[in-house]
Amino acid sequence: MVKVNEAERAIGLFDSGVGGLTVLDCVQQILPAENLIYVADTAHAPYGDKSVDYICERSQHMCDLLIDREVKAIVIACNTATAAAASVLREQYELPIIAMEPGVKPALAISKSGVIGVLATAETAHSKQLDDLVSRYAGEKQVLIQACPGLVELIEAGETDGNKTQKLLQRYLQPLLDAGVDTLVLGCSHYPLIHQQIQSLVGEKIELVETGAPVARELQRRLSKNNLLNSASDSGKVQVFSSAPSTQLELIFEQITGAKVLAERFE
Ligand code: DGL
Repeated sequence: MVKVNEAERAIGLFDSGVGGLTVLDCVQQILPAENLIYVADTAHAPYGDKSVDYICERSQHMCDLLIDREVKAIVIACNTATAAAASVLREQYELPIIAMEPGVKPALAISKSGVIGVLATAETAHSKQLDDLVSRYAGEKQVLIQACPGLVELIEAGETDGNKTQKLLQRYLQPLLDAGVDTLVLGCSHYPLIHQQIQSLVGEKIELVETGAPVARELQRRLSKNNLLNSASDSGKVQVFSSAPSTQLELIFEQITGAKVLAERFE
């Protein structure tokens, strides 16, 4: 087998489904020359209502698949998998693992009312990781955490504009608006896919905070530190894997990248 030059190796990204494509989008904008492998665990989504052990097991499985394909770094493009599995994965694997956490710190820095909201899956909402973030940065400010069960399922099904999504969002957002939040953290990589729907419900004065771009910048910093940045002048290639057929995955991939893709299956 031909050994690929270290820097030309791909970067692996994984998520429970389509959400991590919002991170892939940011990675492509900052690092267009990088080859990417995206893995969507569609057959086992959503992760938000699964146990920590289950999410760890699935995350290890996807890391193994990526390592078999000789990736040079892995991005956990999922807040839920980060909260449940990042520390275990970092202990187990030697390559750089970049994870994502809700943007509580930047949201607190922006907030004028001193009340911010965090939208997340149930698993992230109840995680020690989020609890630690809040204790570390909140100080006198208030951080209201809203678990949003059901949202990821609707996004996976492509029902982003429907009545159901609107109603569910209203139910989750109203208590936060009543409490006076002026900044909202999108604490799940699926939620940027309904950024507009959330913004139109809360109004333009409320700032939405996403974390795809900071994750991409952290990836760039880690690759550069390890001399692993791909210096090719052409755009990198992207390969997509999914554990179940998903037209939604291929559709969103095309909307984001402008390119068509056929997701390969993995078990
Ligand atoms: N995209 C995910 C996250 O960032 C996973 C959501 C889920 O599968 O419940 O949390």
